[in-house]
Amino acid sequence: MRISTTVAEWMERRRAITASRIGFVPTMGALHRGHASLVERCRRENEVVVVSIFVNPSQFNDPKDLERYPRTLDQDLAVLKGLCADDVLMPAASELYPHGYRFRIEAEIMTRVMEGAHRPGFLQGVMTIIMKLLNLVRADRAYFGEKDYQQLKTITDMVEDFFIPTEIISCPTVREESGLAESSRNRLLPAEARGTAPGLFRALTTAQDPSAARSILEELGFRVDYVEEHWGRRFAAAYLQDVRLIDNVALKDRNAALSGCRQ
Ligand code: PAJ
Repeated sequence: MRISTTVAEWMERRRAITASRIGFVPTMGALHRGHASLVERCRRENEVVVVSIFVNPSQFNDPKDLERYPRTLDQDLAVLKGLCADDVLMPAASELYPHGYRFRIEAEIMTRVMEGAHRPGFLQGVMTIIMKLLNLVRADRAYFGEKDYQQLKTITDMVEDFFIPTEIISCPTVREESGLAESSRNRLLPAEARGTAPGLFRALTTAQDPSAARSILEELGFRVDYVEEHWGRRFAAAYLQDVRLIDNVALKDRNAALSGCRQ
């Protein structure tokens, strides 16, 4: 497994790759089973598997959130080796933003709902870094999780509108047996909140409508940012203590999803 920590190093390596199918999985590290499912699928469908690990400062609207974002680099590299990744791209921020935040991708309409509306600058930061990474890697396919469905949809739209020649592949959300979606932020949950956290998925799947879901969450002790429905899915973002969790389910299979999980 080759590790590139500078853009120059990566570009030299990229020039040497002649494979006909290059797959790419962008991450911010602190890898868990959700990330692993993306890398595994990428491994099955491509000759060369490239994974990036970069905690992107421009998508954090809260400096405290950036500071405490979990970083488990040694473990991450061991996981990626085990999954037979070929290349890991892990540049410093000064490599990816050599001129600071000089140009930005604006997601327009998307910034008016959910993550766009509640986390100013978040979607702009994600779209900007993904544009940079897609241009650097020039993959045939890039893999993203439905766990961050609004992000996935915005990236898919951006790739279409900017004619980026990488196919965006969406991958289902990986959950714990309790129903809780795997997330790097779960590591930040205090022990007493771990038992409550699966209530987010349960509220999304069992409530009759978004306002009922909100009430269930508030009764459980969540501080709710939003519960909304778009694109045939129900979405929620809510804080448990000071950890912000997000999740979403397809309305058509929310009952099926529920019966597959222990309650
Ligand atoms: P990160 O949170 O590290 O997630 C990397 C990828 O893993 C994203 O596509 C995300 O949707 C997917 N993922 C996370 N949890 C998942 C789960 N439980 N099941 C399936 N997929 C899951 O999302 C980001 O990083 C960043 O915003 C990034 C796209 C890398 C841009 O900086």
